[in-house]
Amino acid sequence: MVGLAGPALAACAPSTGSSPAPFRYGVASGDPDSQSVVLWTRHDPGIAFVTTSRAAPAPARKSKARSKSRAKNSTNVTRSLATVAVPVRWEISQDESFSNLVGSGEVQALPERDWTVKVIPTGLAAGTTYYYRFISAQGTSVVGRTKTAPTGPTSALKLGFVACSNFGWGAFHAYRHLANRTDLDAVVHLGDYIYEHASAGFGDTYGTHRALDPLGEILSLGDYRRRYALYRTDPDLSELHRLHPMICIWDDHEFANDPKAGGAQNHTPATEGDWFQRVGFATQAHAEWMPTRVEGDVAYRSLQFGSLATLVLVDRQRRYLFPQPDDGDLYLGRAQAEWLDATLSAAESTWVILGSPSNFGPNVAGQTGGGWGLRDRTRAINAFRASRSGNLVVAVGDIHKFRAMDIPFVPGQYDPATGAGSAGVEFAVGSVTSPGATDPNPGTQVKYSNGSSRGYTLMTFTGGSVDTEFFGFDDALKTSSQLPAESRLAGFRVAAGTPHLVPMSNPT
Ligand SMILES: [Fe+2]
Repeated sequence: MVGLAGPALAACAPSTGSSPAPFRYGVASGDPDSQSVVLWTRHDPGIAFVTTSRAAPAPARKSKARSKSRAKNSTNVTRSLATVAVPVRWEISQDESFSNLVGSGEVQALPERDWTVKVIPTGLAAGTTYYYRFISAQGTSVVGRTKTAPTGPTSALKLGFVACSNFGWGAFHAYRHLANRTDLDAVVHLGDYIYEHASAGFGDTYGTHRALDPLGEILSLGDYRRRYALYRTDPDLSELHRLHPMICIWDDHEFANDPKAGGAQNHTPATEGDWFQRVGFATQAHAEWMPTRVEGDVAYRSLQFGSLATLVLVDRQRRYLFPQPDDGDLYLGRAQAEWLDATLSAAESTWVILGSPSNFGPNVAGQTGGGWGLRDRTRAINAFRASRSGNLVVAVGDIHKFRAMDIPFVPGQYDPATGAGSAGVEFAVGSVTSPGATDPNPGTQVKYSNGSSRGYTLMTFTGGSVDTEFFGFDDALKTSSQLPAESRLAGFRVAAGTPHLVPMSNPT
């Protein structure tokens, strides 16, 4: 049964944080649908004294005397410390006092999952706020708040968007501002949730603002687990997870910088081991520590928010992380590209939100480039155009800046004055801490570019429009120990049926 939870095995995880032991990493929720949501926590490792009886050596020849002796010796015991599973009870309720539970159960915290616990209660009501907590013999977690997705006719949806949160480069002020909001349905993280580098691994002045754990580049399963644990000791990120369901898609730094065929820019097989074994470690730690339904290598998925919006998340690293022989040179690899075709063309909601860690459309003159390239972008847009949805909004991370732009479809046919020829709109959602640069030579389709602010993006969807607003603060303030005031950097409205940007001076 339950052993004593002790600090000895917690050495793999830093012990500071806003939540008390044994649930020192707090709680989190994610990937809501209309009937269920992922609930997450981690319990301190279970250790207990295990008592073992030791039998006497077998006698050479039976005799009464020897039998007596063996019986006496069999009472010898040894006691040793061992890890033991920890039963953890979970509860979910519509009220913070948990007086009327709508679900409860028990799961085991286990060493093979790094003592993380993930449960998915079902049978919940759509579009409903819930409170949840975890309980063990050693204590009770903080209370988390989450929300299921709506179903059917839906009048409004408000999503927060974040990306690129490098722990060493500054405080997670953007997370705190987002956590403080009370009007969100969910928060979408578009990748680079962790970074794999050693402390000061980029050699920049911000690199040592906060020391990392481990100090070196993360390579082993234990390393990746410790890096996630470090991030979850951050009180701002912990509070964001506690108060809002998060929907997360990985980019490259959850593994290593810039994956490429058979490896990555930041992976040296001679000294850092097999690339695909490292990918496996990163994938496992991600599944353990993130409040996601993703348990294996398929991270691309879609989430439905009633009749109003379909959120489609793609894994742009897939062809390098999990290559298949028939991937060809497709940007997303074969299976994911075909899944995206089917998903986009089947969409029936007013808005389709394509969440891509990398930029989708062309941001410079010429209208052919962009992260996806003309061919793969055109394929996705054509699939979208075959659907019953008329409105495409792309949200991207990766580039460490805020940017708002139309997406020219056919090169040479876009009119920047009227927006005619735009297939949809694209927003780069800013970075939490990672530094960026304002576009030096943007094309006429780019209506806003800001690489000097850190922050987050809000999108408010209704049947008639989507309002997108950038919130943030100056880059230099990310190293402040005090929470800097945020300001509304810019806002844009897109009316349903007219896929181009219109500046919006007043807040939504
Ligand atoms: Fe990044």
